[in-house]
Amino acid sequence: MSQVLRDARRYEEEREQFISEDERPAFHLSARVGWMNDPNGFSYYNEKYHLFYQFHPYDSHWGPMHWGHAVSDDLLHWEYLPAVLAPDNSYDRDGCYSGNAITLDDGRQMLMYTGMVYETDENGERRELQMQCLAFGDGLNYEKYEHNPVLTADDLPEGGNKYAFRDPKILRQTDGTFRALIANDVKGCGGQMLVFRSDDALHWEYSHALVKNRYRIGLMWECPDFFELQGKHVLLGSAQDMIPDGLEYHNGNGTFYMIGSYNEETEQFEEETNHAVDYGIDFYAPQTVLTPDGRRIMIGWMQNWDTCNLRTESIPWYGQMSLPRELFIKKGVLYQRPIREFDAMRGKATTYKNVKVKDGVVTLPGIDGRFIDLELEISATNPKEEYRKFALRFAQDARFHTGFSFRPHESAVKIDRKFSGSRRAIIHQRRADVAHRNGTIRFRLILDRFSAEIFINDGEKVMSATIYTDISADGISFFADGDVTMNVTKYELKV
Ligand code: FRU
Repeated sequence: MSQVLRDARRYEEEREQFISEDERPAFHLSARVGWMNDPNGFSYYNEKYHLFYQFHPYDSHWGPMHWGHAVSDDLLHWEYLPAVLAPDNSYDRDGCYSGNAITLDDGRQMLMYTGMVYETDENGERRELQMQCLAFGDGLNYEKYEHNPVLTADDLPEGGNKYAFRDPKILRQTDGTFRALIANDVKGCGGQMLVFRSDDALHWEYSHALVKNRYRIGLMWECPDFFELQGKHVLLGSAQDMIPDGLEYHNGNGTFYMIGSYNEETEQFEEETNHAVDYGIDFYAPQTVLTPDGRRIMIGWMQNWDTCNLRTESIPWYGQMSLPRELFIKKGVLYQRPIREFDAMRGKATTYKNVKVKDGVVTLPGIDGRFIDLELEISATNPKEEYRKFALRFAQDARFHTGFSFRPHESAVKIDRKFSGSRRAIIHQRRADVAHRNGTIRFRLILDRFSAEIFINDGEKVMSATIYTDISADGISFFADGDVTMNVTKYELKV
């Protein structure tokens, strides 16, 4: 093991002790210490879920990337393990970037990741040269492959940008051969997801482009994932520098999914639709894992590149993962719902049925809290009379609240965290389209210490946002402009 990795391991173990439980999310994975971004190598290996992550232990800001490591039995309670990769070789000395994991036939786990080294280009600019590397391990310790890197700029097709060639996702074909789907940027097109093939997982060659952006969704693409789901294939990606298209996508970095059909023989993907994965403020670079019982579970980095350098407060860690979400397709849409393991965290329930909220604010005894799972169904009291607005406020006290509202005539929901403890001019609001009939909409809010995730209409759309409100602000209220009837159930979470 290199000294660089040994130092990182010692540092994270020593410093972790200085972060108390109540400074962290209760059930979302956060950086063990320092900085976390993308989930990496999300896998099920040796009877545990493994989640690695982009990790800079020495600072709560992005820096030379390591791979942090955590394991779990239920995807909700995580145990930190020592970091597995450090930037310690000629091909990754400035960073071990995102990548994925696969189990080999001999029982070892193989990681494929992007090595990054800075170089100065012909214009004298510092650029990130990116190449693909391997490491082999047993779920605890990993050794980098002696012939790294296995894919470099020389392997790129015509026009492929060597400074934007990253985030391999490894796939196994039914004939046992391997594929790696890797994000790249090409002049006149923006992002593309390239397929490389290998018979032995060691020797790789370029095959073809699976999907090209053609500047439809942002510029460069990152972090591909690709899997079969209910007879269709889904491509997940993260796009940089997006421009919104109505309420679809938003400015800056964001996620997208494409649903289509995939022909195993020709290895061509026929795209049918594309949409954002999450319509909130903080969600990026998701990866998925297939559970032993066949569910496809996704986790994303619950942060946002545009705001992560505008901090409200100094904390000894930065960056957390979203709740693990099960994916399924319904009527051509990628639905998400909190994994069913999460139900075991539900404690005491408080339910109200047919509560009228009419032209004003309602609060209900027992409907409050900061570690909660709240289910809400609202509809117009008189189906012939549309209400103008319904709003839920949570994490609320006299000064603070986070808002979620719905305006039926606009068919739009909005999350608003202006009053959620932030002191910076960061993004505070996002909106999304929601189809409805007579103003009927269902949603589910899951609140942890530093986050809110809202699943709309059983997961048809999701909005995630981090919040920084003091935990003492635990009020909840309901507001209607018009006449609304609602059913509400709140579960306290056993954290
Ligand atoms: C996405 C990303 C990846 C890259 C990593 C670097 O958030 O930019 O493309 O591998 O972060 O930390």
